[in-house]
Amino acid sequence: MTQTVQDSAKKRVMIKTFGCQMNAYDSQRMTEIFESLGYESTAEMGQADVILLNTCHIREKAAEKVYSELGRIKLIQDARRASGRDTIIGVAGCVAQAEGGEIFKRAKMVDMVFGPQTYHRLPQFLAEVKRRREADITGPGRGVLDVDFPEEYKFDNLPKAQAAGVSAFVSIQEGCDKFCHFCVVPYTRGAEYSRTVAEVLDETKTLLDQGVKEITLLGQNVNAYHGATKDGEWSLGRLCYALAELEGLERIRYTTSHPRDVDQDLINAHRDLPQLMPYLHLPIQSGSDRMLKAMNRRHTAAEYMVLIEAFRKARPDMAFSSDFIVGYPGETDEDHQASLQLIRDVHYAQAYSFKYSPRPGTPAANLECKLPEEVKDQRLYEIQALLKEQQIAFNESCVGKTMPVLFEKPGRHQGQVVGRSPYLQAVHFFGDLEQIGQIHDVKIQGATGNSLGGEVVG
Ligand code: SAH
Ligand code: SF4
Ligand code: F3S
Repeated sequence: MTQTVQDSAKKRVMIKTFGCQMNAYDSQRMTEIFESLGYESTAEMGQADVILLNTCHIREKAAEKVYSELGRIKLIQDARRASGRDTIIGVAGCVAQAEGGEIFKRAKMVDMVFGPQTYHRLPQFLAEVKRRREADITGPGRGVLDVDFPEEYKFDNLPKAQAAGVSAFVSIQEGCDKFCHFCVVPYTRGAEYSRTVAEVLDETKTLLDQGVKEITLLGQNVNAYHGATKDGEWSLGRLCYALAELEGLERIRYTTSHPRDVDQDLINAHRDLPQLMPYLHLPIQSGSDRMLKAMNRRHTAAEYMVLIEAFRKARPDMAFSSDFIVGYPGETDEDHQASLQLIRDVHYAQAYSFKYSPRPGTPAANLECKLPEEVKDQRLYEIQALLKEQQIAFNESCVGKTMPVLFEKPGRHQGQVVGRSPYLQAVHFFGDLEQIGQIHDVKIQGATGNSLGGEVVG
């Protein structure tokens, strides 16, 4: 009897996402696959019949988080089992790709491990887990593993994209051929490839039909995009011109770009297209040419500054963000000072900075690093303090201005709405909840380190 009740109840899935926006996009697509199989999403792990971690391998801390999370999940699985409920546990994403079957050894209750290029096969993985359960297979043969870079095309095998709000991601490029010496992405995501222009336009139109107003084009190296059309390949810049023609698309963003792949088309697109937001995440990693060379970034700090100036010339209200790595093997105080100087020269609107983390399998993992931890901590502190100062200064420079704000969702207080400025700042104001999904002018009246406040004026 209990069995029947349980079978007739809706199955639930919980996907927990770590890492970058590409993982967020992939999790959304996996949610859609689960929906096509009759699952509904839950935010409560204890309610989930399938728990899936979509993981990140970029730094050691990110990868280790997965195992502490699995420890917690084990307790949930045990508790559910005690009340007669089964839980299937999966590890997807970049840790899955990098560690493969090792995951089953460290976390024995994991049922399936699969990489970022195989998730369209999820229905097969689930069926196989169930088959092995029924056949009572235990021990090493129990887990389902797939870390292929398959021949068949992932995107041909996914359900149509579904919008989850007014802003959506569209993956246009995946993988990376740059092989920066510190980075796992070329190994976890594989070789660089671009989706065709027709596919990108099609997915964007599907999202626009569902009320989406803003899309963020995603790729590990998004401006290396070279999408096929029947008349040859298109660059990211050219794609943006075509997207800007689509009815209803009000904002276009793209991330993450590599300085080496910025071309004139892209700069011109910023000059010509009001839909293309004047905000660019352009990671440099270090302001020292010596470090850039050691990292295999294949550009100099001066070349980067030329790009910044070119974007600013094309679009004077352009603002920038970046990523920095401190404490890379061999980094001297002079190199560190060069990073601080570059930050002073650019004036970022915001930026991320990380302590270098050696990653297995990357060329830098074998380099000896003699820097004491305290020195790395001190350098990280200095970079973060300067970046924070610039972020506050940027936010304060917005006070008194009127900005177009995309109304995104209700705020915490009654009558409050939260929206996004062109620079991705969260903007809080009192407004009409009926206007969610629309863009209106907001006069900015206050700024904190992380957000803006204002009043709707148009
Ligand atoms: N494709 C992007 C970024 C990918 S990873 C680019 O080319 O810049 C996101 C950020 O993580 C990187 O920009 C870098 O700053 C940081 N990162 C990557 N590997 C790292 C490592 N081993 N240690 C510390 N930070 C790292
Ligand atoms: Fe990693 Fe470099 Fe590729 Fe960015 S460009 S994903 S940092 S290898
Ligand atoms: Fe992490 Fe993989 Fe993204 S390593 S940053 S989830 S591409």
